[in-house]
Parts: sequence; structure tokens; C-alpha cells
Amino acid sequence: MTDVLDSSPNPDTRDNDEDAGATWWRQAAVYQIYPRSFADANGDGIGDLAGITSRVPYLKRLGINAVWLSPFYPSALADGGYDVDDYRDVDPKIGTLDDFDEMITALHEANIKLIADIVPNHSSDRHVWFQQALAAGKGSPERARYIFRDGLGANGEIPPSDWVSMFGGPAWTRARDGQWYLHLFATEQPDFNWKNPEVHEDFLTTLRFWSDRGVDGFRVDVAHGCAKELPDVLPTQAELDATPTTDGQHPLWDRDEVHDIYAEWRQVLDEYDPPRIAVAEAWVASAERRARYASPKELGQAFNFDLLEADFDAGAFLEIVSTNLAEAKIAGSSTTWVFSNHDVVRHATRYGLPPRGGSDVKQGAEWLLSGGTTPELDVATGLRRARAASLFMLGLPGSAYLYQGEELGLGEVADIPADQHQDPAYFRNPGVDPGRDGCRVPLPWTVDGPSFGFGPARAHLPQPEWFSALSVEAEDDDPASTLTLYRTALTLRNQLQTTEALDWLGSDARSVLHFRRPNGWEVVTNFGTEPIAMPAGEVLVSSGPLSEGTLPGETTVWLKA
Ligand code: NOJ
Ligand code: CA
Repeated sequence: MTDVLDSSPNPDTRDNDEDAGATWWRQAAVYQIYPRSFADANGDGIGDLAGITSRVPYLKRLGINAVWLSPFYPSALADGGYDVDDYRDVDPKIGTLDDFDEMITALHEANIKLIADIVPNHSSDRHVWFQQALAAGKGSPERARYIFRDGLGANGEIPPSDWVSMFGGPAWTRARDGQWYLHLFATEQPDFNWKNPEVHEDFLTTLRFWSDRGVDGFRVDVAHGCAKELPDVLPTQAELDATPTTDGQHPLWDRDEVHDIYAEWRQVLDEYDPPRIAVAEAWVASAERRARYASPKELGQAFNFDLLEADFDAGAFLEIVSTNLAEAKIAGSSTTWVFSNHDVVRHATRYGLPPRGGSDVKQGAEWLLSGGTTPELDVATGLRRARAASLFMLGLPGSAYLYQGEELGLGEVADIPADQHQDPAYFRNPGVDPGRDGCRVPLPWTVDGPSFGFGPARAHLPQPEWFSALSVEAEDDDPASTLTLYRTALTLRNQLQTTEALDWLGSDARSVLHFRRPNGWEVVTNFGTEPIAMPAGEVLVSSGPLSEGTLPGETTVWLKA
């Protein structure tokens, strides 16, 4: 199939069967596992590490190159594990360090790398440091690892500022002795004070701890939030909102000195052979600001959420791909692409809702809040577009981040009963933020069973009946299934991968995008609804059924010129 394509080795490519050394990450297909919702081996309803290990053959057959594992650390799950009690252990609810070692060994034997999530902006309130900080009191060195302030008002009863947390509700919580601590996320997630050298040292220890255990890299949570500069008189929320985030001087977000942290991390990551990789979650004002995190002197790569925020639209996709390829080149990095993750409405659902016209990370929120009734969801259109978009993405230069379940064409679950929600965003902002539980519902592996094969018992979040038809078992041998599409595309991608470049072909970017990679691998997406003439070339894979000589609407095809 690939014999006429130029497959000469080049340093920017990687091969699924062989370790491409230090550059393996540049064009990797990375599959995100949200561990508590992937596979439950012991039947307590919560996904676990042994469950992941048992599914390594599935991951291998899928054709991914790496797993990004969302937090697996001890946690009370106030924020799905992003509230970490201990950065150097495994949550006993989901396994042990031995289970972790077994999992990583199995992944490596299958030629799959492991990227661990690390959460440096905040710990949980159960972290030993935070407990010490509460016990030690005002002015103590223990308290100086976090951000404590006296309150306002005669008795300090008013929070130090009116800041609103990212999940809604106040960003300050009062400790028993009257001081307040800052948490940009949930109450249970106190922010670290990154001006404190002890915090720096401790995270370097954590990076070494997991790197020594064989972890291949790190996904850095809220990378743009760690450095903070809080003046004595704090700005109001309105003033904060009006402060630009473009010049590195905002008190909380994307400050220039945050890069000192990651330059320090790079030194540690480079102690290893191959160097450990890192990818920043950095919600910043521009591709240019993002590129700083992706510098080879820092984390090396940063998420680019532009496609995830865009409508299914040729013009938008063209602009996003062009800008990000250019920025990544300037940064000396490779770009990343992503449509779905554990924080957003799944793209098979987003694309079945009316377009929002512009970039919007909250797409689907209104529909979720209505319980999945308004606006009306067109399930078939959503899935057709999601398949077309994913096949488009998998042909792009750079690395592709996939979220568990998208390979099954899973949609968002909108009818989780109120008393079964888990996400703090849902509870802290009632009726305004629908929360993120709808994309975190445990995966269906079989067509029936108490949790569709997720485990031997029921799952920790309720699964809808329609998961049955989208289960691995239902899709396994179906040549038209989304699972078969992803397997075919990922396997081909490993064979076809080439230099990180593309040329746009054709002049009509209003509804069709067509590009060619340097070895003659072509990708054509018809974003419109009417069929177009099929460009010349042998069809390698298509996101939907083809009819003779035409490329149907909302369909992507890979061609060999
Ligand atoms: C980003 C993570 O992806 C999200 O799930 C989490 O709630 C916040 N960071 C806070 O850690
Ligand atoms: Ca379990």
C-alpha cells in the first residue's frame, strides 16, 4: 500500500515498530486515558490500573504511539483526580505502585509510551503540606508553600479579593484561624506558592521519581498558572478581567517568569535518555505566547486547542492549521491537534449541534444544561463530521491527541441524574456550568452486562442504553464502524508518516481542504454537504461511504497520488 510513497527515514518521523529515539513525540498519536472511566478490573465500579493493563492489546491494535494518563495519584476526587494528595504514589482505590510498574511494562512491550499528568498549580487540601500549613498557622514556613492572606473587614471576615474560581464561587476559602487561602479551582485545590524554592525542589523530585520508573513524559496541568504576582492591594475581579494576558504581566496567568520553572524542568527531563518529553496545557492569548512553553529549552510541546474550539468549517480549519504549523516551526517544536478531552463536550456531539460561529470552548453547554433537548442534536451529522474531522487531523503534521471513546464515535451523555454528578464545575455553578461528567462516562466494551464490559459490576457514572451499539464488541468486526476507521487510519499513519510539512492544493478553501504531505500522502476533506468530484489518486481510507467518482459531503479521504 505504501510502496510508491517515499518512505525514506528522516529525523522528524517515528515508526510504530521501532523506537525513533529522542524525537518519538513529534508526530505521535497520543491516546488519553481517564483512568477511573477506562476499564474496571476489580468490579468496584471505578476504572483502575489493572484494567488498563488488561486492555493493552486493544491499545496496540488501535495503533496509537503513546498513552497520556490523567491523574492516577491518591485523591479524594474533588476534581476528578486533579486534586492530588501525594504526587509520588498511586491512588489505592485504583492500584499500587506495583500495578503501575506492570502497566508501564505492558505498554512498553507493546511499543506504547506513557505520558503522566502532573499538576503543579495546586495540590489537594489533603496533601501533607497543606495539612501542615493549616496546622502551623499564620506566618509559618509551612504556610509559605501556599498562598495565604489575611481577610478584609474589621475581623478579616471578608475574602482578600472578590475573585471567582475557575469553577465558579469564591477563589478564597477561610482557614479555621481566620486567614484565607487562594484556590483558582475548587476549594479542595489550594494553589502552590511558586516563589518558594521548596515547591520547585519538590516538583523536580517528582519528575525524577516517575522518570526513574520509566515514564516517557509529562502532561503539565494549568502550566500557564503557576507563577503569580499578588500585590499587597489585590485588584478586583473586574480589574483582573480587564488586565491583558498578552504581555506576560497579568497577576495570575501566563506570566513571563513561569518560563523559569519549565527551563528548570527541562534540565531534569534532559537527564534521561531519551529525554523525557512534556506537553503544556496552556490556555494563553495567542499561538505566539503558547509557543514559548513549547520551546525545546522548556517543555518542548504545548496543546493547541484551536481545532477543539472551532466549528466544522473549512476556512477556520485552514487558518488554524496554517498558523499553528508556522508557530511550531518558529518555536522549534511540533504542533499538537486535539478535538476532544475530559474537559469538553465530545466532538461527535458538538458537530451535531448548530455552529456557534467562532471559537468557543463551551460549545454544547446550553444543550447539556437542557438535558440534551435544546437545541436539537443531529446525531448522524455529528458523527459523520467527527469522523471526517478526525481523519483530517490524523493526516496533519505534528502529534494528534485522542480522547478515550472517540475511536468508538461516542457522544456526550446529557442525562446524568443530578444526584449522580461528580464534577465540581457542576456543583459550584448550578444551572450555569453543566460540568464535565458527560464526557467522562465509563467506556462500553461489550454490548451488554451491568456496565457494558467496563467491569464486572456497575460503573461509577451511569451509562446510557445507546452505549451498547457503540461498544468495542459491537464495532469490532464492522468494517464501517468508527473503531475500524480509527484502527485503519492509525495503522496507515504509522506507515505513511513523513516530514513535518504539508502543501495546500486547490484554491477553493470555502468548503474543501486538500493537502499533500512531502511523500505524496494526500488528505481531502469536503466540509460541504454536496458531493464533489474525487481528486485523482488511489483511495487509502475514507471517513464515510464513497460513491463512484465523487467525494460525498462531510467526508475525508486519504489518497496516494
Ligand atoms: C485542567 C484539567 O484538564 C481539568 O480537568 C482540571 O479540572 C483543571 N486543569 C484543574 O486542575
Ligand atoms: Ca476498580
